[in-house]
Amino acid sequence: MANALRLGVAGLGTVGASVVNLIAKHGNSIARKSGRGVTVTAVSARDKSRDRGCDLTGMTWFTDPVEMAKSDAIDVFIELIGGDNGAAETSVRAALSSGKHVVTANKALLAKHGVELARLAEDNGVCLNYEAAVAGGIPIVKTLRESMSGNEISRVYGILNGTCNYILTRMEDEGISFEDCLADAQRLGYAEADPTFDIEGNDTAHKLAILTSLAFGTKIAADDIYLEGITSITTADIEAADELGYRIKLLGVAQRTETGIEQRVHPTMVPKSSAIARIDGVLNAVAVDGDFVGEIVLVGPGAGGNATASSVVADVADIARGDETPVLAMPAADLADYKRARMRLHEGGYYIRLSVIDRPGAFAEIARCMADADISLESIVQRRRAKAGAETGKPEASQPQPVILITYETTEVAVREALEAIASKGVISGKPQMIRIEKLA
Ligand code: HSE
Repeated sequence: MANALRLGVAGLGTVGASVVNLIAKHGNSIARKSGRGVTVTAVSARDKSRDRGCDLTGMTWFTDPVEMAKSDAIDVFIELIGGDNGAAETSVRAALSSGKHVVTANKALLAKHGVELARLAEDNGVCLNYEAAVAGGIPIVKTLRESMSGNEISRVYGILNGTCNYILTRMEDEGISFEDCLADAQRLGYAEADPTFDIEGNDTAHKLAILTSLAFGTKIAADDIYLEGITSITTADIEAADELGYRIKLLGVAQRTETGIEQRVHPTMVPKSSAIARIDGVLNAVAVDGDFVGEIVLVGPGAGGNATASSVVADVADIARGDETPVLAMPAADLADYKRARMRLHEGGYYIRLSVIDRPGAFAEIARCMADADISLESIVQRRRAKAGAETGKPEASQPQPVILITYETTEVAVREALEAIASKGVISGKPQMIRIEKLA
């Protein structure tokens, strides 16, 4: 057997400690499967005195990850520092330039610099593996890079953020508000102290940008993603979706259209009968539509130390085996430029919730605006506001009434024009809510 592959782990948080523990527990079986031993010879983190729940005996300690990245003590640099610049970026560049293979869980880094880093890896004849960067423990990178290579892919979509899925699931199951669910998620450690990146959809967008490149053979275009988070979703939307046969999920979707590739992250109504609708809590799921295989759906944990370590170590095993799959499934020079499909041309059904001022002719005005925009309605539901009169002392009829519209397939631009026209007629109070309906089998 060849000399053992020497690993340097940079970043000893939850994932780093799990990687060290996993290699200690399963190193022998990984060696048998890949034909080469794997051993952690070096680690790097800031605070040497902290107990991290893993045995670091015999490992060389580096305070500076860049020094470790260049060191002769390692063959593979495992970057678990995080962030799209600073120490993570500098050390990954240093490792690749010094001829070290790199394994990373860093979606932000790849979303921003992925193509450039792929070139650097190719120029230095080394691997850059990143299974853990997208949907944690789910092997979607390998699936797209290797297993689906015989297919032309028309769409890849998924629930890529466990925090958002946890919040939406609890809002649905327990009827509690977005704010209360978020506070619970933070208390339980599912959401970051600053959850903005999760709930505004940025984390999903980083992962989607990588999936788009792998699925469509295009350069990573993380700045070209239509982005809407889940902060505007109310329990009224969740209840209405339930009654109409849908669930609301934050999806990242990349889809080939006639005008280019759509990349979008937004709350989405999915039919209850679809596989993706049944993914609850912190779980992630990714679906891929291939022309020969049809649709496949992978489900699993998208975060957590052990699940993420599982993907990191699978990447290490591939390197031990001598697997040299191109970083982005093809040589970086062959990646096509990303051609964005404009969001205003997006086609699909829409859920619209309006707070309609209760006066004669209001419905007729709304229906006229929809017809003028060439939008056909599948259903209109008026939901009476419970006990409004009793609470406020005003007669119930004078309160704005929630009205839900479901459209047949139309375009984004038509819906936006219709909503602007409705707002200009003075028949609604507040901002309309609009949620896209994803067409799923
Ligand atoms: N914060 C992410 C989530 C995990 O909630 O799924 C890391 O990307």
